[in-house]
Amino acid sequence: MGRSHTERVVTPAPLSAQYFDGWYADMAGSSAKDEVMRRHLGLPPYLQSTSLLGWEGIGEVTEALRLSSGDILLDLACGRGGYGLEIAARTGARLTGVDFSAEAVRQARDVARRLHREADFRVADLAATGLGTGSVSAVLCVDAIQFAERPDATYREVRRVLAPGGRAVLTCWEPFDRDDVTVPGRLRRADLGAGLTAAGFGNVEVRERPGWRACERAMWEEAAAIDASDDPALRSFRDEGVRSLETFDLIRRVMATATAPLASASQPDPDDKPVLPVRSQEDTDVGWGERAEPDDDERLSRDRPPHWDSA
Ligand SMILES: C[S@@+](CC[C@H](N)C(=O)[O-])C[C@H]1O[C@@H](n2cnc3c(N)ncnc32)[C@H](O)[C@@H]1O
Repeated sequence: MGRSHTERVVTPAPLSAQYFDGWYADMAGSSAKDEVMRRHLGLPPYLQSTSLLGWEGIGEVTEALRLSSGDILLDLACGRGGYGLEIAARTGARLTGVDFSAEAVRQARDVARRLHREADFRVADLAATGLGTGSVSAVLCVDAIQFAERPDATYREVRRVLAPGGRAVLTCWEPFDRDDVTVPGRLRRADLGAGLTAAGFGNVEVRERPGWRACERAMWEEAAAIDASDDPALRSFRDEGVRSLETFDLIRRVMATATAPLASASQPDPDDKPVLPVRSQEDTDVGWGERAEPDDDERLSRDRPPHWDSA
């Protein structure tokens, strides 16, 4: 039997929680990047995004989640919490947000407090959320599944925490050609349909969203031309713009939706060891205010854009 495409793609080195802590801390000191993103994505000033889901996309995602008032929404890899908070406000759902960056979670809690919204934001891993089995009504994961160290374990975690019949909605990018080595490594292995299906989901649909792509291109064109001066968040945004435009036509924008089965068939493989959750002792010892010098891998990844990279 031939190997699957994900085995053929060299797995990129995972970006650490510490890397993302630094990314979020840089952003906290820079409103300029947020302003450019908001303008292109059509987002209101209160919505703190660190990805590329626009206002129109939020409507589509909300509809696909099929939430009712009082349901529990898990925003997986929630970042600063903007999308989960918005969708919870629209639907009356209760929000739990999980991200492995303690700095992202701190900022998400701040945003919720400022907006006078109830939400439970926690530090945990994509593949080990620490939430109870069948404890949430729907899972949202916006532009983050490509970071999973073990995507298969992450899809199974999504399935595990969902109540029977619960909905999973994920947004990401996928390559047109998985064998094209010029496509960033994280995205070459992104296959939302295969991942959700293998985890036992039903009604799996992966729909291309070319309309979302148009405003992404305009945003990256503006970003790539920015004079970033000494603003590190703008610098990383500009670099990401340059890199994104280089490979823009090689990837497609997708939204995947799926339903957790009603029966308890095909549970996750008990022999599969979970990815170690949360942060290592080493990570927790290093606060952002006294950040340790990154090692070579860390320094390399820090210069790379966060939505995907070519590692
Ligand atoms: C591009 S951001 C998107 C954040 C948020 N979903 C949004 O759309 O604003 C990717 C997020 O994935 C998180 N992340 C990456 N790897 C993770 C992991 N293994 N476990 C939990 N969160 C992770 C990062 O900390 C970051 O917040």
